[in-house]
Amino acid sequence: MPEQFNTVIEPFRIKTVEPITLTTRAQREKYLAEASYNPFKLKSEQVIIDLLTDSGTSAMSAAQWSGMMQGDESYAGSVSWQRLERVIRDLTGYPYILPTHQGRAAERILYGHLGGRGKTFLSNTHFDTTRANIEFSGAEAIDCVTPVAAQPESDFPFKGNADVERMDALISERGSENIGAVILTVTNNSGGGQAVSMANAREVRDLCRRHGVLFILDACRIAENAWFIKQDEEGYGEKSSRDIAREMFDLADGCVMSAKKDALVNMGGFLALKDEELADHCTSLLIITEGYTTYGGLSGRDMEAVATGLEEIFNEDYLRYRTRSTAYLGEHLDRLGVPVIKPIGGHAVYINAGEFYDHLPVEQYPGQSLVCELYKVGGVRSVEIGSVMFGKYDEQGKLVPAPRELVRLAIPRRVYTQSHVDYLIEVFGRVQELRSSAPGYRIVREPRFLRHFTADFEPVG
Ligand SMILES: Cc1ncc(COP(=O)(O)O)c(C=O)c1O
Repeated sequence: MPEQFNTVIEPFRIKTVEPITLTTRAQREKYLAEASYNPFKLKSEQVIIDLLTDSGTSAMSAAQWSGMMQGDESYAGSVSWQRLERVIRDLTGYPYILPTHQGRAAERILYGHLGGRGKTFLSNTHFDTTRANIEFSGAEAIDCVTPVAAQPESDFPFKGNADVERMDALISERGSENIGAVILTVTNNSGGGQAVSMANAREVRDLCRRHGVLFILDACRIAENAWFIKQDEEGYGEKSSRDIAREMFDLADGCVMSAKKDALVNMGGFLALKDEELADHCTSLLIITEGYTTYGGLSGRDMEAVATGLEEIFNEDYLRYRTRSTAYLGEHLDRLGVPVIKPIGGHAVYINAGEFYDHLPVEQYPGQSLVCELYKVGGVRSVEIGSVMFGKYDEQGKLVPAPRELVRLAIPRRVYTQSHVDYLIEVFGRVQELRSSAPGYRIVREPRFLRHFTADFEPVG
């Protein structure tokens, strides 16, 4: 972007368009009632701006699409695999690369092998599929995020950092032989999409070396994280974000990556490791559950798209636009008086719905209420990350709420323009005006696991 101008422009032009169906409030009220007030159950054509997730929702580039035509679909040793392997090796420096159909497949393979009863995993914050794969193996997953993360008003730029002291104490208490791995998730999705500093990654590396435990990066947003380091960490302003990412990869023993985020594709992932013996174990599991070593769960054309996406993501005009556009949304909501989690993360804006709707008790799910209001008012789909998603019941059937009632606005990559963002800000202005009349919700039907996906709700009162 030319430096003398303040306007954040998209550093791309649009070649193919996908129509959005514009709906009326009356239509949306009907659709929402039909979806039992659970936006997961809406049909995508009923949504105007879809901020449900940034995962697998990227717009691919002309280079990615044309690369797909070059996809070599040979079962073994395809040209597309050779290219993907070379691109990942160049980026990470890791010798052993295992392609998977998405991030959680890499997690299942690695953590399934390292886990099991009696094992403990430590992370800044385990993403839900990470935690689920660890717990499914019988192991325990403990979050150790920096205490600054709990201070909503703090603008500390690295609120995704791990609490290394706590990790140290836990490793000493449990015994290093019982630690499955230490996982650093960059950026820290479940913690607010916030960045992890290189200094913190170095401390985690030192800790793992001292105790002889494995250090794994969850690298699905490592380009966005590298950009934050470049902006905010001393000594990195002159380095390229790709070199910064490489420095972080060098500190760890391996990584899992969902390519559906920073590799700019709709499906894909991989596991990459330094250790040959560990890679051999994981390769056996890969062949049993995903596919042969040179395609994993991917077709040749998907591998072409991932390889190109991994090259495109480090374009610094893109990273500047991406983080500025997300911050622009967050800053304008903040100015409207909407309580946003600070600093604004790379891929999403998080809103404290508990504070926004302080007239609603947690039992009436203020986050669900905000998600429904955003849809009714502006056709915006977002996701509750509070007591609907993480709440549990005690033995008396009383709700044990989540620590915070958040709503996440996740921004798909290269999909929405500045005017879509301005529209979102206007929608929030209206939602703000209607604040005191927003109803609470009760759950009328829910499954045993992951209830947020399929539960039915009704408004209270
Ligand atoms: C930090 C993190 N790790 C892992 C995953 C799982 O990746 P996938 O959805 O490709 O299975 C996600 C997905 O959102 C994520 O955000």
